[in-house]
Amino acid sequence: MAVKRHQDPDDNPAERQSSSTAFQEILKRRFSKRTFLKNAGLVAVALPLTGITNASSSINKSSSLSFNEIAHGLDKHLHLAKDYSAQVVLSWGDTLFSNAEKFDPNKQNSLSQLKQFGFNNDFVAYIPIPHSKKKSTHGVLIVNHEYVNSTMMHPGSPHAFELSLEQIDTEMAAHGLSIVEIQKQENKWNINRDSKYNRRITPLTEMKFSGPARGHKRVKTEFSPRGEKCMGTFGNCAGGVTPWGTILTAEENIQAYFSGNVRKTSEYESYKRFGLLGSKTAFSVWGKYYDHWNINKNPQAAMQAGWVVEIDPYDSSFTPIKRTALGRCKHEGCGVHVNKDGKVVVYMGDDQVFEYVYRFVSKNKYQPIDRENNMSLLDEGELSVAEFTDQGSIIWHPLQWGKKPHTKDNGFESQADVVLDMRKAADLVGATPMDRPEEIKVNPISGNVFAVFTNNSRRNPLNTDAANPRVLNRHGHILELLPPEQDHSAREYKWEIFILAGDPDSKIDNAYYHSDISESGWFSSPDNCSFDKNGKIWIATDGFNLSGKADGVWVSATSGKDKALSRLFLRAPIGAEICSPCFTPDYKTMFCSVQHPGDGSSFDQPSTRWPDFDENMPPRPSVIAITQDNDKIIGT
Ligand code: FEO
Ligand code: CA
Ligand code: CA
Repeated sequence: MAVKRHQDPDDNPAERQSSSTAFQEILKRRFSKRTFLKNAGLVAVALPLTGITNASSSINKSSSLSFNEIAHGLDKHLHLAKDYSAQVVLSWGDTLFSNAEKFDPNKQNSLSQLKQFGFNNDFVAYIPIPHSKKKSTHGVLIVNHEYVNSTMMHPGSPHAFELSLEQIDTEMAAHGLSIVEIQKQENKWNINRDSKYNRRITPLTEMKFSGPARGHKRVKTEFSPRGEKCMGTFGNCAGGVTPWGTILTAEENIQAYFSGNVRKTSEYESYKRFGLLGSKTAFSVWGKYYDHWNINKNPQAAMQAGWVVEIDPYDSSFTPIKRTALGRCKHEGCGVHVNKDGKVVVYMGDDQVFEYVYRFVSKNKYQPIDRENNMSLLDEGELSVAEFTDQGSIIWHPLQWGKKPHTKDNGFESQADVVLDMRKAADLVGATPMDRPEEIKVNPISGNVFAVFTNNSRRNPLNTDAANPRVLNRHGHILELLPPEQDHSAREYKWEIFILAGDPDSKIDNAYYHSDISESGWFSSPDNCSFDKNGKIWIATDGFNLSGKADGVWVSATSGKDKALSRLFLRAPIGAEICSPCFTPDYKTMFCSVQHPGDGSSFDQPSTRWPDFDENMPPRPSVIAITQDNDKIIGT
């Protein structure tokens, strides 16, 4: 989500005092031998061309990266490294079904939107068509639509609180997910609008619960008096892909949807800790027309949100399942990994200032040829939360009902209470409050885990620690978590700082990269990450716009002599963040989201009209497919 909408929410953060440590002291303790930087002078020229431009030349010093870096900047266009091309695959309003109504931004309505690509696409996953020989050119694309921006979406640029019921219905229909079959033919990715896989999932799609909170009294609502079903999904930020071919979608800023006076509910303490304060934190007025989103009429409805949802994209009739064993928080995403013992591990960040990093380890093992078995793996297992010690260790503390402190004495009647109030359970075991945990993923080459922390302007000298070492952390950082002997179920890991983002030339930023970092190699507010065939990390940012530079994608080696030598590969159009770089199995196509282009302006007077550059079309959030012109593997 754009930083503007939820930058540093200050609702009851779990602040914890820790010993104040001088920054240089922290650096000494937690860095490897890399040194501070010098700039390499860069020359890059952008060529305006259908909204996507390439750097024509640049000087790259001492980098194992094969592409010519582009330069920092901020304009209407999307810029890409030389010899790469980007195709706009899907934009807001594009039809997903052959019987869908053609998009007209001036006459958009809810029924049309239900058959079209939604707004503000975030998470993107590509999975091959089953049994297809064309695994990397024929697949299903799954995309989250995290939220909408009313002023960018409707003619007249209305504020969210000025919308008509029909406009609210349209916005609701623009949330959720799009699932669509795509195929690469003659170098172009095409949509199959008649595919059996195509589906829109929205906040009104019926879902069900599994795991400890299923059927619990605290998830019973008017819609589901037995607490077994729930209404839809929304606030879907990043996600994950399981090895059995399902996708996980993470419900993040669900506090933005429930209005009413939260003090009048029996869940007040729980909602307060979650940062859900009814009308004080709602960005929407769904509750004005629909009781489900009015916390006073349906006090448990917000307990039905904030989960990880599993969806089978190969079956368009599949009822999505909220996997409550993975806990309830502002889930950024889910990094899925099969441990060497066959157990499935899910890493999860809770994206709010001073919140925590979580891990789930399944009780049962992944069976490559038994999909039915795998479909229940995320219902049983051990949930734990990370303590990052100043000495460089991570201790995973179990969140398990019945064992102290998660007992009746502390208000936990069962594991359902532990998962429903996961933050509260984590508070009791000394978890480390982090600088807004975003995506956490396993590097498939090294087996180490990379955890991204986007920023935290509320970090102060009294609560800095070795893992969150900077006061007013404006630019965020990335940590590398090292499980012993690649055992992702181990109780204790080590951790290292990978990058402290920010301007390496700024004394205030105290940034940290490889010493050969270039003029454009530095970034701010990392959010998502992915790994290519060689284990290089592709980092997407959300918040660099605030420093007057475009967000984008930076790439860095994660080991060897060029570790932490990031280079700018892609620059977003003004206002946009880039989300969820993801690769086809042959690594020849990289998909990613361009979310909220033109953010900060309006439908009527947009700061860019990317990607159409048509006077009759507002800027449209879109998924793009990036290929190398000679069909080589991305990043080689
Ligand atoms: Fe939706 Fe944490 O970004
Ligand atoms: Ca973000
Ligand atoms: Ca995000």
